[in-house]
Parts: sequence; structure tokens; C-alpha cells
Amino acid sequence: MTYLDFRSDFLSRPCARMAKTMVEAALSPAGFGLREDPWQQRLEARAAELLGQEDALLLPTCTMANLVATLAWTRPGDTVLGDATNHLAISEAGGYAAVAGVEYRGLSGAFGVSPIGDWQAASAPPADAQRAAVRLFVLETSHNRGGGNAIGGDHVDAVAEVARAAGAALHLDGSRLFNAAVALGETPAGIAGGASSVAVSLNKGLGAPSGAVLAGPRGFIEDALRIRQRLGGGMRPVSLIASAGLAALDDWPRLGADHETAARLREGCRGLPGLAPVDPPVPTNIVLLRLAPRFGGPEAFCRNLSRDGVLAIPFGADLVRFVTYRDITPSAVDRALQTLARLATTHERQHDE
Ligand SMILES: Cc1ncc(COP(=O)(O)O)c(C=O)c1O
Repeated sequence: MTYLDFRSDFLSRPCARMAKTMVEAALSPAGFGLREDPWQQRLEARAAELLGQEDALLLPTCTMANLVATLAWTRPGDTVLGDATNHLAISEAGGYAAVAGVEYRGLSGAFGVSPIGDWQAASAPPADAQRAAVRLFVLETSHNRGGGNAIGGDHVDAVAEVARAAGAALHLDGSRLFNAAVALGETPAGIAGGASSVAVSLNKGLGAPSGAVLAGPRGFIEDALRIRQRLGGGMRPVSLIASAGLAALDDWPRLGADHETAARLREGCRGLPGLAPVDPPVPTNIVLLRLAPRFGGPEAFCRNLSRDGVLAIPFGADLVRFVTYRDITPSAVDRALQTLARLATTHERQHDE
């Protein structure tokens, strides 16, 4: 069976132009030092420019980029503040605690956005030295658990101002920042330029096989380079990954097509019994469906779906997640919708009997 695989946009394959660039890089001489490779240098310069930051560094994953940023901005015992459902808090194996030795204080919000007053209240300076200092704020755009909600530059700037007043840095987990930029009609630098640092995935909708970039001030990137080495993230030779990343950075305006296929899926599900699409204020390429209890939970639902050749992932107590990317065409969405309709109506009949 050939599957329609909606589990993540990291499943996207390199386009022909990227593959050609990678072949060219594979045949060129490799650099020896940690930042010597010419493909890596071009990628890092281009990423820094696009993200409105002084410098940038290539890393193997966005998880490592978030961890490197946490290590660079904090000391053990400090507090990190961010939405309780951020990827960094939930899906990075507690790296902030285990490796950086910091506490994560989760704010509640809607679609990854917490009121500015909550940031201010949670980061008010400690009355005395008995309290841990808040040294780092974390925002995420687009917000994965917030249904792919695109958070824009105005909110990033407002939170950055609170961080500055509290003596903290603001790290932006922009794993899908380019999706957010396209959805909002803002430039990547317009969203990320006001943050102290930003991490971006190259392997998601942008289509590189792996890699992420961490961008920030020059001194921060110097620290990040040493921390990356300490964590074993200094990849050499690196030209294959760097050249794919460089090609990926040209590809971001295409992401609008993935938002259209996601909208097609979201709208197509709207009338189906027992399936309620989650509607973030600014949707991107992620679709969350809230399931009625009669489906037996997200695991059972995804298992049943996979029997009909459609793959999605359980995403919490009553949610499943679908992500669109280059290989998910409008007709693939229509086929998935037929399967979803069959599953929804079959369960409805069984429920009624
Ligand atoms: C918001 C967010 N941040 C970070 C990551 C981690 O990316 P990586 O798989 O490159 O470690 C992901 C992965 O899906 C993500 O969704």
C-alpha cells in the first residue's frame, strides 16, 4: 500500500534543484575547521540576513539549536519562561533541565500566545536572592501545539520588550518561522529581528534532508559554536547538509501552497460527523482535528486511518495532527478526505446501532 503520509513536514523530499546543488557540493573540496566550509559560510550568511540577525550557525537539529540557545543565555538554577505547550518544554526530552540545569515555568495561553501582562507578572524581578532569576523567555512560531498558529513580529517585539525590562533574553523557536512569515505576509526578519536569538528548521517544509540554523548576535554565536562542539553537533564534512540548507532558504515563498492544501483539508473535515478542526487565528500547514469520544481516542483513530493508507499522529487527549508539505498535493488531500469521511460515517453508524 502507498501511504498518504501527513505525520510531519520533515518527510518532504529535496526538490530537483536542491539535489543538483547537493551533488555540486559533494564534488567540491571539504573544509577542515568548524566554520570553514564555503557552503556552510554561504548558508550561515544568508540565514543571518534573512532572519535580521548579526550571525548564524548551522546545527544538526532544531532541538539542539533550542538547547544551545538555552545554554548560551542561562546559568544553572535560572528560570526559563514560555508557553506551557512549547516544543522546548514538551518534546525535547527535558534538555533544558537535564543539560542546562534550568527550570521551565509554563505560561497558559491560546494558540501559543500569552497576554503581555502574564509575561510581566511572571518575570517581575525577585524580591531577594532566595528566588531564581528569569533569564530567558521562549516564543514559538508557528506554534505547533497551537495548531500551527503564526505569531507575528508585533507580538515578538512586545514580548522582547518585557524580556529586556526583566534583564532576560528572548529566544524564538522558529522551527516553522518561514511558514509564519508567508501566512502573515511579513518578512522573516520582521518576525525574528526583534528576538535575541532564533532557531529555524531547514528540514521541514523547506525540504532539506536535515539541519537547522541558530541566529543571533555575533558574541552569542561565538558562545554557541563552543557549546555546539561540546554537545557533539559540529558536523564535518558539512557541505552536503549545508548546500541543501542553502537551497532550502530559497524555497520559502513556496510554503503558501502547503497552507492551501492544509486549508483544503481543514475545510473538507468541517462537515464530517465527530471531527472538529481546530481554528487558530492565523493557520499555516498544520491541521488539528478534535475527535468525538466515540472514535476511542487518537491512537485508535490513527490506527484505523492507517489501515486505509492515511498516516497522521495522535496529538494529545482528543487531538490528531496532520501536516502538509510539498509532496502532499490537493488530490492527495481529497483522497485523505474520502478516507476520513468513510471513517467518520462508519463510526457514526456503529454508534447509532
Ligand atoms: C516547534 C518545533 N521546534 C523544534 C522542533 C525540533 O526540530 P528537530 O526535529 O529538527 O529537532 C520541532 C519539530 O517538529 C518543532 O515543531
